Amino acid sequence: MNEVMKAILERRSCKKYKPDLVPQELIDQVIEAGTYAASGMGKQSPVIVAVTNRELRDKLSRVNAEIRGNPGADMFYGAPVVLIVLADTSVPTYVYDGSLVIGNMLLAAHALGLGSCWIHRAKETFERDEFRELLKKLGLEGRYEGIGNCVLGYPAEEPKAAASRKASYVRYVK
Ligand SMILES: Cc1cc2nc3c(=O)[nH]c(=O)nc-3n(C[C@H](O)[C@H](O)[C@H](O)COP(=O)(O)O)c2cc1C
Repeated sequence: MNEVMKAILERRSCKKYKPDLVPQELIDQVIEAGTYAASGMGKQSPVIVAVTNRELRDKLSRVNAEIRGNPGADMFYGAPVVLIVLADTSVPTYVYDGSLVIGNMLLAAHALGLGSCWIHRAKETFERDEFRELLKKLGLEGRYEGIGNCVLGYPAEEPKAAASRKASYVRYVK
């Protein structure tokens, strides 16, 4: 089967990770795949904040759990890397642009032998003052909204089989 098709069909969300660190070179390849996503009018509205700092990673997970109403849980399933995608709200397609960046990164992670998962609530996380402050430090003040977190790491379990696709997914008009 074509390699791209294979990755698309085989990728699954990983919900248990080994604590092992991911080499920077692999993280960078996943990020590069994200940056090559299509974007509305080619405006490249998203930005990626790559977090490998343990303290910040743990804080992001803690706040995510709080927002979800699940305090104490590790919302990142032990994954050591969090690639946060935010996007510039002044571009009308920013949510779609950011989502596609995450889609590319999930696929690239799989192709490189890594586990990955979209973890939600980046929007609510980056509405908090403490994280606004972080964005400010990174020169991302003002108009950036959190789209999602792509967590990465080495899988600690076999992925479950994909759910069967709903029968009503497609309508053909010929
Ligand atoms: C927009 C979006 C938000 C998601 N948020 C979460 C999340 O917060 N936590 C989580 O464990 N998985 C999350 N997921 C992953 C889904 O649970 C997963 O994609 C779904 O169960 C289908 O499994 P698959 O990715 O293996 O095909 C999210 C996926 C998407 C696309």
